[in-house]
Amino acid sequence: MAPSEAVTEIVVGEFASLSGATASFGQSSHKGTAMAVDEINAAGGVLGKKMRLVSEDDQSKPGEAATVVRKLISRERIVALLGEVASSRSLEAAPICQQAGIPMISPASTNPKVTEVGDFVFRVCFIDPFQGTVLSKFALSKNWKRVAILTDVKQDYSVGLSQFFKAHLSVNGGTVVSEQSYSSGDKDFKAQLTAIKGTTPDVILASGYYTESGLIALQARELQIAAPLIGGDGWDSPSLVEVGGKAVEGSFFSNHFSVEDPAPAIQTFLKKFNDKYHEQPDAMAALGYDSAMILADAIKRAGTTEGPKLRDALAATKDFSAVTGKITLNPQRNADKSAVMLEVRNGQFKYVETVAP
Ligand code: PHE
Repeated sequence: MAPSEAVTEIVVGEFASLSGATASFGQSSHKGTAMAVDEINAAGGVLGKKMRLVSEDDQSKPGEAATVVRKLISRERIVALLGEVASSRSLEAAPICQQAGIPMISPASTNPKVTEVGDFVFRVCFIDPFQGTVLSKFALSKNWKRVAILTDVKQDYSVGLSQFFKAHLSVNGGTVVSEQSYSSGDKDFKAQLTAIKGTTPDVILASGYYTESGLIALQARELQIAAPLIGGDGWDSPSLVEVGGKAVEGSFFSNHFSVEDPAPAIQTFLKKFNDKYHEQPDAMAALGYDSAMILADAIKRAGTTEGPKLRDALAATKDFSAVTGKITLNPQRNADKSAVMLEVRNGQFKYVETVAP
């Protein structure tokens, strides 16, 4: 890079699953992130410089996140890192950023361990002890007391969400009647579902990603299991309905925002996103956008991109008006934000309720 270039731009890294099993996570978060960077630059950039986003694809593969993040830090000399969606991949990157003193902001990883890695690691979303409680309270409010749980043991996210759900449910009048597991990429869930069927649950918690949850719903119906399914934010993708079809109708999941929310911040974002990409944004797109906006705001307040000062400015983020709500980063570097419950109805995600932290 020529010296003149070095002073005219601020290089921000992004790692995302742009391809592979959960490509839609990376594609979505990247679209939101890139849109925010374009807007920031159109409005003059930050500290008189343009922001340049350098994106790397971790291919949804374990191990690859660490590799691409090391590369971003050593070769691109990024001042901060945005990403990832999947908690397991954010957990690969976090120690690397912490050690290098490069602030990292995960848009959508909800497992608590991510920001526990250290004081350079932030996120702009809520965490799973909260999300698990939201789901448990929702199940209990429907009088679904006997719950079967299906966990993706390859994902920290799913393992954590199941655990936090169970912790709340079991001391609030519910019972976990069956606990089954699978691994990301599995296609056949009949054995687990047959075991679940025998326990006649009121509801099934499928705590993994949409990639498997749609198939789980289909196979549950094939086995004549009529119990509704519930899930977490990992369900948020149009693919859930494309794969699950009728089988996911009447299911519920928790999420970071609802496209039906009339809040101007959300409606403006929807319109801009739709104008640019001709599709509707999901939560990962909105959170990707928010992560870049929060970073730009912190760089402005810090007046510099120096790691420790930028870290301090990020930690001081307070009442930032983001698409997914007002963001204050708490002392644990997480955002205390509301969750929404959505119902899958007529192939769409219909707003049910908002649950405050
Ligand atoms: N919360 C999930 C995780 O931590 C990621 C996710 C967020 C997936 C939002 C879909 C939508 O792994």
